[in-house]
Amino acid sequence: MNHSRENMILIVDDAKENIDILFQALVDDYELSVAVDGESALEYVSTNPPDLILLDIMMPGMDGFEVCRRLKKDPETSAIPVIFLSAMNELESKTAGFESGAVDYVTKPFEILEVKARVKTHLDLRNALKTINQYNKQLEEIVERRTKELIRTERQAAFSLLIQGIVHNLKNPLSGIIGSSQLILKYGNILKSMLLDIPEDVKNKEIKYIEGIIKFSEMVHGSGTQMNEMINSMMSKSRSDKSDKIEMVYLNDILKQEVEFLNADQLFKHKITKHININEQLPKIKLVPSEIAQVFQNLVRNAIHALWNHPKPSITIGSGTYDKGVWFSVEDNGPGIPKNILSVIFDPFFTTKPKASEEKNSNEPVGTGLGLYSCLEIIKTYNGKIDVNTTVGKGTTFIVYLPQQQ
Ligand SMILES: Nc1ncnc2c1ncn2[C@@H]1O[C@H](COP(=O)(O)OP(=O)(O)OP(=O)(O)O)[C@@H](O)[C@H]1O
Ligand SMILES: [Mg+2]
Repeated sequence: MNHSRENMILIVDDAKENIDILFQALVDDYELSVAVDGESALEYVSTNPPDLILLDIMMPGMDGFEVCRRLKKDPETSAIPVIFLSAMNELESKTAGFESGAVDYVTKPFEILEVKARVKTHLDLRNALKTINQYNKQLEEIVERRTKELIRTERQAAFSLLIQGIVHNLKNPLSGIIGSSQLILKYGNILKSMLLDIPEDVKNKEIKYIEGIIKFSEMVHGSGTQMNEMINSMMSKSRSDKSDKIEMVYLNDILKQEVEFLNADQLFKHKITKHININEQLPKIKLVPSEIAQVFQNLVRNAIHALWNHPKPSITIGSGTYDKGVWFSVEDNGPGIPKNILSVIFDPFFTTKPKASEEKNSNEPVGTGLGLYSCLEIIKTYNGKIDVNTTVGKGTTFIVYLPQQQ
């Protein structure tokens, strides 16, 4: 008979005879506790939350309505179903009972079968809800974990794309170094053979070769310096990418470094006109540089994608202050975002681009639909916001607002 003994019911009534009747009716099936007034009921519930409460309305001290209201106000106890015990002549109080948050009522004198049936119904409901909530929580956890994994993968993919671009950029100065050093070697060898025997009439030629050596050494030096700068910026990038520390920094420094870094993208470097419209007077702000860099990069990457195939592509990077902190913006003169998809572009997995695995035109940009979602997730942790201004056929501006944290 006691298959539901795992459910605990609290009976709250000041009249002993009522308690006795309810106790008799329910003791075989449930674990029972008793409180004789509102105050001790609330105290008991706060340490031993029951699965259901049978609550008398008229009690000395705090009445049942007040007890119920307090239970419903506290998120810890608001889900516990409350059944009021009301006398037949308290019709008005039934409505008041529902208003205070009760799920049901039973009338005195008690019909044992009715009490049992109502208690069982509400406990079944409560148990079913509990199970659903548990499933929901598990599902949420799975989705959250999976989304985090995907964001990480997307970030790694973006990073390796940039590395590829940088390596590509390193090729030009490197071939300069190799070509020049070959010539230096050649001239060196010629000079060496000349040193064996130096008649007066070749002295002019000698000077010419020495000048050549100087010129090409300068080129080697120039190319080497260029490579060095690239490697430096790459290294500072990977440094800032690794650090997850919050720092006081200049937002403009992050934007400039990222633009430098995005130059690894050939389309961005050579084909797109860039306007930098930043306010040099921005105050320092507390943030995690790698996070804001990622947001900026995602927005610029979206702009680059939007300008794919555009005859006169242009991107404007802006920054400034507002009453609460600083902002930055990425503007493109691309196709704009149609009204019907504007409300979903921040949703995870929403994309109008083909997936990397799908069939597509050779250079067509691909997407997972996580870019803007992860931007928003990051900016939310700063209590900031992202605004979009877009006109179909004219272009799109994303503006990110970052309040100064107290
Ligand atoms: N600057 C823009 N101009 C036009 N459409 C845009 C722009 N930025 C975003 N969108 C639209 O919003 C969609 C969602 O962008 P989001 O960055 O979240 O994903 P994605 O770029 O498609 O993929 P990825 O996960 O690789 O970033 C894009 O597919 C595109 O349709
Ligand atoms: Mg994107």
